[in-house]
Amino acid sequence: MGTLLSAKNLYHIYRSRTEQASVVALKGVSLDIDKGEYIVIVGPSGSGKTTLLRILGGLMRPTAGTVLFDNQDITKTPEEDLTMFRRKTVGFVFQEGNLQPDLSAFKNVAKSLSLNEVPYQFRKRRTLELLKTMGVAQRKNQLAVRLSGGERQRVALARAMANYPELILADEPTGNVDYETSVRLLELFRQLNKDLGMTFLFATHSNHVAGYADRSVELRDGLFLGQHGRDIDLTRLDMTRMVVMDNDNRVTFPESIIQQIETKIGTLWNVEVLEKKRIVLSPIEEWSEVEIETKETIEIKECPVCREKNASNAKSCVKCGAKF
Ligand SMILES: Nc1ncnc2c1ncn2[C@@H]1O[C@H](COP(=O)(O)OP(=O)(O)O)[C@@H](O)[C@H]1O
Ligand SMILES: [Mg+2]
Repeated sequence: MGTLLSAKNLYHIYRSRTEQASVVALKGVSLDIDKGEYIVIVGPSGSGKTTLLRILGGLMRPTAGTVLFDNQDITKTPEEDLTMFRRKTVGFVFQEGNLQPDLSAFKNVAKSLSLNEVPYQFRKRRTLELLKTMGVAQRKNQLAVRLSGGERQRVALARAMANYPELILADEPTGNVDYETSVRLLELFRQLNKDLGMTFLFATHSNHVAGYADRSVELRDGLFLGQHGRDIDLTRLDMTRMVVMDNDNRVTFPESIIQQIETKIGTLWNVEVLEKKRIVLSPIEEWSEVEIETKETIEIKECPVCREKNASNAKSCVKCGAKF
């Protein structure tokens, strides 16, 4: 099989020009994708899925980190070459299908082929073949705007696959369709992955969608929390090594690190700063209860006459008046 893509320690910071605030959308994410794999990034809204997909597809450069695609670092590739790379290597499907609404299904697909300078006869044949594979050949002359949500996603997928890309990236591909339609789409993706050996990377907030993949990786607040799926390689869980301070001066440790230090919630840490650069955290294993010292220790003195309990410094009994 072999590795198709290898992303290492990706950070992405969205800086705002108007305000001081910046958002750390990715906080050290590493991911390897094998050829022919069907992998899903699952996480709630705002966890960084779209940011990650755009970086992996070469639509955006990360603030830090590398993306090796067939051993080429696309984060360092000049813009013109990157455009070529995207056309030839990656197919994109977005939530809305992002088709041109005023063009027919046929033209939407054929157009992406013409960008790669394919002769007309071949373009026509390939387009019809793709629309057929996606089950929308009978809708070929329909304007994109008139297609249903599910049909639109099928045409978008046909277009994404037109140039035999090595990787299909799809951002919430079933986000705008009903449940039944999403099941049919997911089965189609599964089928294409099996029959054509296409590599798929999807982002979704839905565990149901994630269930169709070989492997699902969980993203939360810009960090991988863990992964699920068949044949899980536990060493892959251990990849996230760097941490970054977020907008609120908080540092979150990756799950894999927390597991290694065998700590538990509520552990107190001693923080030591070395040379203004390094910090050492040491757990405070035990801490003794603080002793409260009272100014005066009051002992009890029993009255020998009436057995009344008096303070030790009393000169006479408060009850019977007997002198001590
Ligand atoms: N263009 C942008 N400018 C500033 N912040 C952004 C931008 N795009 C996304 N973000 C922020 O980055 C974080 C991750 O967003 P995103 O990658 O879209 O997550 P998801 O796709 O999982 O919903 C969020 O906090 C989001 O508000
Ligand atoms: Mg998103």
